[in-house]
Amino acid sequence: MKPEMRLVTLTENSAGLRREVLAEHGLSAYLEFGGRRLIFDSGQTTTAVHNARLLGVDLEGVPIALSHGHYDHTGGLLSLLEVTGPVDVYAHPDVFASRYSRREGVLRQIGIPFRREDLEEMGARFDLSRRGRELFPGLWLTGEVPRLAEFEEASEDLVVLSEEGEVMLDPLLDDQALVLVLERGLFVLLGCAHSGMINTLEQARKVTGEDVVLGVAGGTHLGFGGEDKLPKTIEALRRFDLEILAPSHCTGFAAASALAMEFPDRFIKNSVGTVIEL
Ligand SMILES: [Fe+2]
Ligand SMILES: [Fe+2]
Repeated sequence: MKPEMRLVTLTENSAGLRREVLAEHGLSAYLEFGGRRLIFDSGQTTTAVHNARLLGVDLEGVPIALSHGHYDHTGGLLSLLEVTGPVDVYAHPDVFASRYSRREGVLRQIGIPFRREDLEEMGARFDLSRRGRELFPGLWLTGEVPRLAEFEEASEDLVVLSEEGEVMLDPLLDDQALVLVLERGLFVLLGCAHSGMINTLEQARKVTGEDVVLGVAGGTHLGFGGEDKLPKTIEALRRFDLEILAPSHCTGFAAASALAMEFPDRFIKNSVGTVIEL
């Protein structure tokens, strides 16, 4: 029987055992669902295109959705557009915000490394919205994620500059996830989960009106944040009772290991070339 969904990780921080594929700090995934195809995020450079070719994934004509505007999720857009040709690109309007990381007082640019016009010239047809929406039947973008859980606070290292040049915490309102409504429940694909993994799962439930969350994949940002973030997330995940937990990217080794220990029969090591079919 044909699976309801097929998810292929194109770009991730590690490359597993696949021959000749490349890893980088970033995330990109290819999805087939309900007779539709979609690319979620672009990775940082050209690895998504390179790896798709090696993995036998045809990207021509495949629309793109963006989880947020960080360079490691958008930097591969130009190279993707060369392969997809003109396609719709779904995102939040703040995806073009200029933003920085702050380490030891030094600001480093980490926003989208392209101008909107240059991407449009390459065929990107931007379709921007702040709200949760159904892109295709059963396939949703969460839209802005309300920050409800007190242990999932904003990162002190991620900032924007006000018009007066004042450094402020980046609200990262553009951060969102992809949600598939499968027969047995929801499958949620996270970008970086800057809004918090648990907040995002709650938002996935809210926009779709479906209660059961079957699985989660993608970047969880669990390696960043306060001391209670990981234990409280694990506690919340137990309540969700997921069948599949396939964290990747900004989860980090320590948090991924903790999840693997906590949920040994549900954990999937998710790296370049990983395929999840449900
Ligand atoms: Fe990221
Ligand atoms: Fe990010």
